Amino acid sequence: MEELFRRVAFEAAIKAGNITASMLEKPREVHQKGPRDIVTDADFAAEKAIIETITSWFPEHSICSEEKPFHQGNSPYTWYIDPLDGTTNYFHRLPIFCTSVALAERGEVILGVVYEPINKRLFWAEKGHGAYLNDKPLRVSAISSLEDSLLGLDLPRLQALRVEFGATLQKLIETVGTIRAVGSAVLGLCFVAAGWLEAYLHLSLKPWDLAAGALIVEEAGGKVTQLGGKPWTIEAKALLASNGLLHEQFLRILENFTGS
Ligand code: 2AM
Ligand code: CA
Repeated sequence: MEELFRRVAFEAAIKAGNITASMLEKPREVHQKGPRDIVTDADFAAEKAIIETITSWFPEHSICSEEKPFHQGNSPYTWYIDPLDGTTNYFHRLPIFCTSVALAERGEVILGVVYEPINKRLFWAEKGHGAYLNDKPLRVSAISSLEDSLLGLDLPRLQALRVEFGATLQKLIETVGTIRAVGSAVLGLCFVAAGWLEAYLHLSLKPWDLAAGALIVEEAGGKVTQLGGKPWTIEAKALLASNGLLHEQFLRILENFTGS
């Protein structure tokens, strides 16, 4: 069964990624979902392809997908889908975006697949079986000094949260090597798994943003927790992922920031 789950997740993520990549340069329809929050016709087209692929194989499974109401199936399995992560990048035609598909069994993520179509990178992991970039095993970085670290993060949309985060950001700026805003939380997590970033921080995530990426980081030997250090759950909002070696140091810098 695991092999079938994996094959279907690969097929769904690659189909969706090819759709978003092919629509990148075309004129597009954009809707405002809320402040600093948009959705495009490419998000909807990719979502349709993913859901059709998954439900054709597993009609009983539940589906939690960003642009659709939750679909309650009759099975212990739930798919968490972000058809296009990095929509703001995509809207600006900045080619840093991906598709994320994860499968949880009774709330535990067992499979994560992320496809970055521009670079044809398929990041994936299965619980207990390691993480891979295409067919190459992934391993987090070995950097253990904050001063040498590259931290990825993205900003929350809410004004109050941004203002509160300001003081913490100041501390981070003074401590780390440097900072990159990625624009895709899912790719930020995959970049930690690949050893390209030492850590990634996000303050307001949704289940479909973190399910696949968090598993990929853990399976690559990294650590993912909530900001107080508690284990991540699919419902966690604020998340720190790291190579493990720097985790406690980052948590200490973040300790006065509640993010709620
Ligand atoms: P999206 O592109 O699917 O909307 C950028 O901040 C990254 O964080 C993107 O991956 C974005 O996902 C995600 N994100 C999810 N919820 C967010 C929120 N409340 N504020 C900001 N970014 C959010
Ligand atoms: Ca999205």
